[in-house]
Parts: sequence; C-alpha cells; structure tokens
Amino acid sequence: THASQICEQLLSWYSGISETRGMPWRKAHNPALGEAERSQRAYEVWVSEIMLQQTQVATVIPYYNRWMEKFPTVGDLAAASIDEVNSLWKGLGYYSRASRLLAGAQKVMKDFDGRMPKNASAMETLPGIGRYSAGAICSISYGECVPVLDGNVHRLLSRFLALHAPPKAKPTLDILWSAAEAIVKGVKPTRDPIIADAGGPTLPSVLPSVQADKLESATPADLVPHVAIGYAGDVNQALIELGSTVCKVRDPDCGRCPLRDRCAGFSRAQSSKEPEEMGA
Ligand code: ADE
Repeated sequence: THASQICEQLLSWYSGISETRGMPWRKAHNPALGEAERSQRAYEVWVSEIMLQQTQVATVIPYYNRWMEKFPTVGDLAAASIDEVNSLWKGLGYYSRASRLLAGAQKVMKDFDGRMPKNASAMETLPGIGRYSAGAICSISYGECVPVLDGNVHRLLSRFLALHAPPKAKPTLDILWSAAEAIVKGVKPTRDPIIADAGGPTLPSVLPSVQADKLESATPADLVPHVAIGYAGDVNQALIELGSTVCKVRDPDCGRCPLRDRCAGFSRAQSSKEPEEMGA
C-alpha cells in the first residue's frame, strides 16, 4: 500500500505548519508519560474534541481555557453540578455535549477508577463518545493507530478517492473509514514510545522480532524499515487540518496540498480542464 508514503507526506506537511493556531490542547506528545499523565492528556483532548464538534477552533479556545481552569481533572468535572457545567458552556450551543461530558466523567470515576479508558473501544463506552471522538482522543493522547473521520476528513478523502456517492450512506462511510484507517496504520510509533511503552496496552505491537536488548541501539529505520515513522495523533491532526485549511469546502487550495500528486479528484479536475486553463 501507499499508506506509509501518504503518512510521510502528511507528517512532513504538518511539521512544517509553524502556526498551531494557539490551540492549548495541542501539546508535543511525550512517550515517557506515566499512566496518570496519559489519562490527564486524554481528558484534555476529550474536552477539546467535544467542544470542537460543532464549533470553530477560534471560538473554542477561550471556552477550553476557562473549562480547564474550573475543572482541571476528570475528577473535578465529575464532582460538578449540571448548572456549573452549563454555565461554562454558555454560548457554545448544543448543551447536550456538556451534559454528556459530565455523565462521562462520572462514569470514568465509577467504572474506570478515575482513569480515562485506555483504548478507543473502551473510550467509546463513554456517553457522547463515538468512533470519531474515540479515534481522536486515543490517537492524539496515546498514539493508538485508530482513524478519525470528521466532516473535514470526509470531504478530503472523498476528493482524494474521487468518490462520488451519497455522503451519509453506509457503504460510503465504510469506504471512507477504511481509507482513514489504512492511512493511520501506515505509521508506526517513533522509537521512543516503542521503548517506553513496550508491551503497553494502547500502542500497537511493534516488531516482536526485535530483541528488547537491541532496542536501545536501534534507529527508527532499523525497527520499522517499511513504514513511516511518526505519531498516529499527528497523522490524524494533519488530515483534520489539511481538510479544514487546504481541502476546503469551496476553492480547495490544491497548489498547497501535499497529497496532490496522489489525489484522484485533483487529477480528474486537471484532465477535464481545457488546455489553455492549464497554461498550455
Ligand atoms: N477539529 C477537531 N479536532 C481538531 C484538532 N485536534 N485540531 C484542530 N481542529 C480540530
């Protein structure tokens, strides 16, 4: 497959975006985090992803900051009242998102010992968390190689595959989720998380044939010669960001797209153009 090359193009594009648009929930991933810190990261990404569901990044930022000041941990949130939660949500709309966050936090305290679930399928058992949110939270905070498909990625992949099909039909969604999954599986974690989390529950098992005592001296390319080296959360955020800033609803900026050369939509648009439009 070309998944690993797509990953490489996405990751190199993403690392070149100096501007993170000041998103406070975006932190460099640290493979050495312990369990409590990983759970904390998952909580932060959870809150941000729920806020981002129907609301733009620039609007979300101050809400996110106020939320984290008031409810710095999942335990603090679980102890809150619905009125406190709703008053912090005021202005964001779709209040059911806020009440599900509260219910989710209570479930984490009750059923998960106060720690966020450790992988995407367990994460999906929380209220308000579907496949998209679970994929975003677990790839960004744990590096789990699970896909995301939001509106932006849906549009991007539909164009990339030149898929002209009813956007909400099950077969369409199946194809797009499979494509998103194939892409994120083209990445294997960098060397550091392999070592720090060898045998851990959330990272994919990597090269069982590599002896533990050789890990220390191996380079990433030695470990995983045929796949892109990188972080699943970055691949997914690159897709989301590419969809929202380049592969826009109107006037996609194909000239700035790292995936242009492989994009079926782009190549069709080119070949259907009159020669003079192409500058011939
Ligand atoms: N929209 C949803 N999730 C996002 C993320 N992690 N970064 C930027 N925009 C997003």
